[in-house]
Amino acid sequence: MTRLLLLGGDGIGPELVAATRAVLKAADDGFGLGLRFETAVIGFDALATEGSTIPDAVIDKARAADGIVLGPVSHNAYPPVSEGGLNPSGLLRKTLDLYANIRPARTLEGYPPPCGQPFDLVIFRENTEGFYADRNMATGTGEVRPDPDMVLALRKVTRKASARIARAAFAHAATRPARHLTSVHKANVLRESDGLFLEEVRRVAAGYPDVTYDEVLVDAMAALLVRSPDRYDVIVTTNMFGDILSDLAAELSGSLGLAASLNAGTDHAMAQAQHGSAPDLAGRDLANPASLILSAAMLLDWLGEKAHGDGFAAAARAIEQAVRSSLKDPATRTPDLGGRAGTRAMAGAISQAVLHAGQSGKSGRV
Ligand code: IPM
Ligand code: MG
Repeated sequence: MTRLLLLGGDGIGPELVAATRAVLKAADDGFGLGLRFETAVIGFDALATEGSTIPDAVIDKARAADGIVLGPVSHNAYPPVSEGGLNPSGLLRKTLDLYANIRPARTLEGYPPPCGQPFDLVIFRENTEGFYADRNMATGTGEVRPDPDMVLALRKVTRKASARIARAAFAHAATRPARHLTSVHKANVLRESDGLFLEEVRRVAAGYPDVTYDEVLVDAMAALLVRSPDRYDVIVTTNMFGDILSDLAAELSGSLGLAASLNAGTDHAMAQAQHGSAPDLAGRDLANPASLILSAAMLLDWLGEKAHGDGFAAAARAIEQAVRSSLKDPATRTPDLGGRAGTRAMAGAISQAVLHAGQSGKSGRV
């Protein structure tokens, strides 16, 4: 049995999690995965009833689960932490040590990318430290205000975190046809912190002679991704740079609404859409569910690698294939993708295709 905890979130989050649950249920029925779903309330609804956007009991449930599906949250609109406004995404990443934020950006047949050229890259973003002031200190935050007119923001870079994100990225790069890994940094200015990051990445690189390794400054990478995204294969970088570059790469590949992400640690993994909670679309059956559905496919892959069962990888391929098929027909894609389907209709089409693939023993790579 594989226990999945579903956390709805805010805005469009609950609708997207419901859509993703339908697809996972179809995968379970079609591929016999043995999934068991559990739900818990987070976000504004939890704040209203429990006084916290992510109560301790939910963290405990997350620890006990084999995988988590997190819907988008409106944490920028939350009250201060002192009034219960915790960031569920950041807290789960830090508490469960989900140190690798894995963000593919790949053009999908059926949805022409703005950049006009096919590409397939993946960003390995360090997920637990860096400039993220809400998680980079043992107590307090990484921002201090010596006087009302000044704030100092601290960046944390450790050998341990740098080495393990590099190991994860190189291990993945070694499995890809191009076997090319690029580390992205700003060591010409952040000489100590990015200098340390690069020391560890280079140390890991030495153990992967078959992987082509290079380094690019983050500002240059922003330009190069626009100019020639097909030059890149696997990118490893620190937290904030990964946050920014992954949105850019996702949009270049087609749409942020099609971009999956998996927050992966040693013992836990959390599927999470790369986009936000879009409160203006909430409750209107208009939101594009593809990002969270593709993130759930990444979670099934991760669970399969954890020996949860043979069918997990095949189910993940079937979900990717079903999403690509849904993109080809305006009747099965949402308005942001130029279609006329609602969230439920798009998820329904994907679910049917996944169930059929499982029952007929077919699934293919996107
Ligand atoms: C992301 C988001 C979060 C981040 C925000 C919502 C804190 O942008 O998951 O990319 O910066 O990590
Ligand atoms: Mg982001």
